[in-house]
Amino acid sequence: MKVAVTRVIPEAGLAMLRAAADVALWDQSEPPSRADLVTLGRGCDGLLTLLTDPVDGDLLDELPTVRVVSNFAVGFDNVDVPACTARGVAVCTTPDVLTETTADYAFALLMAVARRVVDGARSAAAGAWKTWEPMGFLGPDVHGATVGIIGMGRIGSAVAARAHGFGMRILYADSRPAPDAEASTGAERRDIDHVLRESDFVTLHVPLLAETRGLIGTRELKLMKPTATLINTSRGPVVQTQALVQALQEGTIWGAGLDVTDPEPLPADSPLLSMARVVITPHIASASEATRARMAELAAANVIAVLRGDRPPRCLNPEVLTRG
Ligand code: DGY
Repeated sequence: MKVAVTRVIPEAGLAMLRAAADVALWDQSEPPSRADLVTLGRGCDGLLTLLTDPVDGDLLDELPTVRVVSNFAVGFDNVDVPACTARGVAVCTTPDVLTETTADYAFALLMAVARRVVDGARSAAAGAWKTWEPMGFLGPDVHGATVGIIGMGRIGSAVAARAHGFGMRILYADSRPAPDAEASTGAERRDIDHVLRESDFVTLHVPLLAETRGLIGTRELKLMKPTATLINTSRGPVVQTQALVQALQEGTIWGAGLDVTDPEPLPADSPLLSMARVVITPHIASASEATRARMAELAAANVIAVLRGDRPPRCLNPEVLTRG
C-alpha cells in the first residue's frame, strides 16, 4: 500500500501510516500545488489531505489508483464528495477528537475580543502603556450576556457548555433541535434572525455548504446589536468579508473574532487586520498538541481501515465501501 500525505502531521499518525504502508510525504511548509499533488499521489492507494488541498473529480481522474481521501479536519469543503463517491473513493474526516479544543478556542476568541486582550497586548508591546486608564480598553461583560450559537452540532454544543459556565443566556439557531444542549445549558432554539437580534455574541458553528456560504451578510449584520461581536471558527466563506468590513467600519456591530477568513490568509492590506476590537488568528482553533495528535491518528486509522477493507472510523460515504 502507498499513501500520500500532503504535509507533515503529528508523528503519532505518520508512524501508524509508516507501519502499514509506504508513505510519500510532502514535507514543505506550503501546500503542494495541484501539479505537485498529482506527482505526489501518483500510484498511491490513499491520500491524507489537509483543508488546503482541493480534491475534485479531475484530480481523482489523474490518480486512478486512489481509493480513499482522508481529510485531516472535521470540515470537508475542500473535497468534492459526490465526485469521490462517483469514483468509488471513500472520504473520511476527523470529527469528535477536536470538538472540545475548538470550543475552547471559540470561547477564547470571544473573551479576547470582549475584554480587549489583543488590543491591550498590542498597546503594551508598542510602549503605549503610560498609566492605569479608567477609560481605556473598555468592552462588554461576558458573564450574564446572551450568546447566539448558529449551528448547535458537536462544537456548538460544547461552546454552549462553556457559555453556561459563564452564566450566559444561550440562544441557538439550527435546522434540528438539540435537546441535550437545551437540557444541560438551558439553550433556547429560535430562528436565525431572532438569534442575531437578541445576542451580544454570535458564534458560528456550521459547516461550509452551499446553503451556509455567505450566510452572514449585510442584512444579517444589520440585525445584530451595535454592541454585538461576531465570532467565526467555522469556515471563512460563511461570512461575507466585505459586508463584515463595512459593518465594523460603520459601527453596525462592535467587534469580531475570526479564526477563519475569506480568503485565507487575508491579504496584508485587509482592513480587518488593523482594526481595534477585531482579533484575527490563522485558523488555529484545533491547534492543541493533544488534539492535533488525535486528528493525525484518526486520519491515519481512516486510511488504513479503507485500504485493508475494514470499516473506517469516520467515513462520509460508506456506501462506496460495500461496492464490489
Ligand atoms: C477542521 O477540522 O475542519 C478545522 O477547521 C481544522 O481543525
